[in-house]
Amino acid sequence: MKNVIVGQSGGPTAVINSSLLGVYKTAKDRGADIVYGLVHGIKGLLDRDMVDLSTQVKNDLDMDLLKRTPSSFLGSCRYKLPDIKGNESTYEEIFKILKEYEIYAFFYIGGNDSMDTIKKLSDYGEKIKSPIRFMGVPKTIDNDLAITDHTPGYGSAAKYIAATTKEIIRDGLVYDYPVVSVIELMGRNAGWLTAATALAAGEDCEGVDMIFLPERIFDLDKFLDKVGELYKQKRSVVIAVSEGVKVADGRYVCELADHVDYVDAFGHKQLAGTARFLAGKVAEKYGVKTRAIELSSLQRCAAHITSRIDVTEAFNTGGSAVKAAFEGMSGQVITLKRVSEDPYMCITESADVHFIANVEKKVPDEWINKDGTNILEPLVHYIRPLIQSEITPLWVDGLPRHLILQK
Ligand code: F6P
Repeated sequence: MKNVIVGQSGGPTAVINSSLLGVYKTAKDRGADIVYGLVHGIKGLLDRDMVDLSTQVKNDLDMDLLKRTPSSFLGSCRYKLPDIKGNESTYEEIFKILKEYEIYAFFYIGGNDSMDTIKKLSDYGEKIKSPIRFMGVPKTIDNDLAITDHTPGYGSAAKYIAATTKEIIRDGLVYDYPVVSVIELMGRNAGWLTAATALAAGEDCEGVDMIFLPERIFDLDKFLDKVGELYKQKRSVVIAVSEGVKVADGRYVCELADHVDYVDAFGHKQLAGTARFLAGKVAEKYGVKTRAIELSSLQRCAAHITSRIDVTEAFNTGGSAVKAAFEGMSGQVITLKRVSEDPYMCITESADVHFIANVEKKVPDEWINKDGTNILEPLVHYIRPLIQSEITPLWVDGLPRHLILQK
């Protein structure tokens, strides 16, 4: 038997199911017997909660739908496996289950936290000389994975963000009096998503006025002074700010308004409310009309506006992981390498999971302007190819159709 297993983990993206399809289809094409899907990631394995993917994806139409379905088809988790040392019984149990299901290769689609799971499983597998191969398939809208040029999921989120920012800028210009709009973007401690708002600028759009990334310390007084200068010069001021911006004492800006209570298994605080807090400060200081626009989950589930490049690369990274595992590779994560700028082209390679798990890749300092209020052209140049072309949803009764897990 050559069974494989695949799980999805961490925050979803609009194209994470294209990677799932890449794993499923490639494994089947290469002779896998059963391709199991883990329900809610590694937790599904521990709970023996899995599905035979051939009962879910039955024909070409299902494949087309899966590719166009946002969020994680199998369900996700934010579950941290314990350290191997002192917790061998957890790993004995996992490997017992893998043996029971006759698993030949294990694929995990996730970001830097989720790659911790691949790292621990492949380390333990190596220790007990297990023949099972463990491969990571990269995904995250945050684009903060080390080594890879970018991560599947980022391009579609960036496309949605840039398109929505253009629309917000138009809306802001509608009245004959000033409006200050603050848009809040996800991305935790990396500013890649927020930087994508810069792509709104073009011959039909003036672009955002300021961009604040978490890579630079946020100074509230300077921010308010700059807004004060701007709204006197122009009717509509639009500012993009990362959910992860921090003030000099290390607190997140959103924590200045509210205490953050929720912390996930990887120790990440739930970040939200930055735009509301800043818009409130602007209104308080200048008495001007403000809007706080938190894109929140919209930016990661907008499957009606995915980038074709992103969908293709998501599928390819899944497929490459299977190919690599079937050729004997383990303990690696598939990466993308940009081999040509014009025309844009990326190829897949792989990297040792130890260099990727739990590591956050930030926006390089030289791509941010001196006073930390905007990004520079090379960053726009880096992002632009990733948002190109579209995949059209399959519309039914006026709405995009999705594929739903049947259990
Ligand atoms: O990791 C991706 C991400 O979308 C981050 O940008 C964001 O901070 C986080 O997930 C939100 O996660 P959750 O869905 O657990 O609230």
